[in-house]
Amino acid sequence: NDMLDWQRTGFHFQPQKNWMNGKHYFSFLFSSRPLFYKGWYHFFYQYNPVGAVWGNIVWGHAVSRDLIKWNHLPLAMVPDQWYDYNGVWTGSATILPDGSIVMLYTGSTNESVQVQNLAFPADPSDPLLVNWVKYAGNPVLVPPPGIGIKDFRDPTTAWVAPNGNWRFTIGSRVGTTGVSLVYETSDFLNYTLLDGWLHKVNGTGMWECIDFYPVSTTIENGLDTSVNGPNIKHVMKASLDNDKNDYYALGTYDLERNVWTPDNPELDVGIGMRYDYGKYYASKTFYDQNKQRRVLWGWIKETDSERSDIAKGWASLQGVPRTVVFDKKTKSNILQWPVHEIESLRLGNKMFNNIELKSGSVVPLNVGKATQLDITAVFEIDSKALEGVAGADVSYNCSTSNGAAGKGVLGPFGLLVLADESRSEQTVVYFYIAKGNDNNLKTFFCTDESRSSKASDVDKQIYGSVVPVLDGEKLSVRILVDHSIVEAFAQGGRTCITSRVYPTKAINNNARVFLFNNATGASVTATSVKIWQMNSTFDHPQV
Ligand code: FRU
Repeated sequence: NDMLDWQRTGFHFQPQKNWMNGKHYFSFLFSSRPLFYKGWYHFFYQYNPVGAVWGNIVWGHAVSRDLIKWNHLPLAMVPDQWYDYNGVWTGSATILPDGSIVMLYTGSTNESVQVQNLAFPADPSDPLLVNWVKYAGNPVLVPPPGIGIKDFRDPTTAWVAPNGNWRFTIGSRVGTTGVSLVYETSDFLNYTLLDGWLHKVNGTGMWECIDFYPVSTTIENGLDTSVNGPNIKHVMKASLDNDKNDYYALGTYDLERNVWTPDNPELDVGIGMRYDYGKYYASKTFYDQNKQRRVLWGWIKETDSERSDIAKGWASLQGVPRTVVFDKKTKSNILQWPVHEIESLRLGNKMFNNIELKSGSVVPLNVGKATQLDITAVFEIDSKALEGVAGADVSYNCSTSNGAAGKGVLGPFGLLVLADESRSEQTVVYFYIAKGNDNNLKTFFCTDESRSSKASDVDKQIYGSVVPVLDGEKLSVRILVDHSIVEAFAQGGRTCITSRVYPTKAINNNARVFLFNNATGASVTATSVKIWQMNSTFDHPQV
């Protein structure tokens, strides 16, 4: 299996490699429940200790000082009770005003009924929170009347209600309508189901891993989950079991009525914006009181075959944690950006300025080995060309318009990463500008995986969406490249795309980076490209 070892990442969180008798430790992980406690970030994750596929779910546990370098700890919780016999599923921590931690999690019972359970740290003075105790009175909640026994999971972090009680939400569905139920409690032992829904959207199916949190429309800091009032919007996010994508919407939370209303009903939860237009699921934010920010972490699954996962002995990664803020410029989306700590891994950097990309050109960027990179690039398109072009490509679609191979008037142009010298393999991150008959520009941001691997058991897609670009703004992109994952952020994180790719040629010293421009109607200038080599994080224990 050493053959597949180059797919392991250098600076992404993934299951621990454990060489025992020459074998990998079989593992599978997803769902992030981060938390900051006594100087450590804690990460609990859905983990299969005995296989590289989903099943036997326990809570894996790792801790970090900086969200980037992780130490693996013993399993935090395993199925050892009737009420979590079929799995210790997703949960969320709430930190009470006295600093103590309450953990609510979903158990799948011996009869596969989804119930909510309580757990506490066995020793709150232990900053590593190694041992956990399950409450003797579990389960504390069972599916209420009208809710399916397999449609009741993933409690959120709690927030404070006007009467001083705690509230949290749990995802479900009624028929094909995705819904969020809200419970109120004063002590986390006794609960009242509130009337109505916090929100529901027809046709969106089961809502997994709901997240619900405030963002400020005026300040840069993130907000603790209970903060509400003027200049605050609430983000609601649901992971749609139907299509396995994380959808969010911005809106207003009426605390008195306990109802959340989207700003734009056409961009409601599950039918509008996604955190990420590639592979990104079961994500969750937490408020980092250490740095007054809200941090989002998502699960990135494999897109190769299960057979390959079993062969390599591991499956799934976590993306790089992202800070989340409201976009004060567009006012219609959030911005996601890799936490600044990732920059501590930057090694030498190379800069390339004012590279003109004539129509049809491909320009290599000589950066040496190109398997672990942090790239920022800014592009300018010839403004005369922009003005001169008549309406073009208004119906452009990343997935169906021929990707990076297409040749439009104003795109595609961008970068090829994880490409080999002859570009027999390449993963393309690009922009595509369309111009409406009303002369308005519409910019698309896409990733094309169709030539990312020679392997045949790999799902190769072209992903993407529109990215808002305001008057006078240049096009900018940040790309994190790490062996088998490419995370791309356009316009400061307005639109994000994460891809799993499995190059067979563009590996180790053979991986390259290129700029390209396939637009027939304009030359493009890469005004500033910076590329850092990135250090690896494994084997960097911190104490
Ligand atoms: C998300 C999810 C959650 C559940 C957990 C089970 O993918 O299905 O809804 O709690 O995974 O492992």
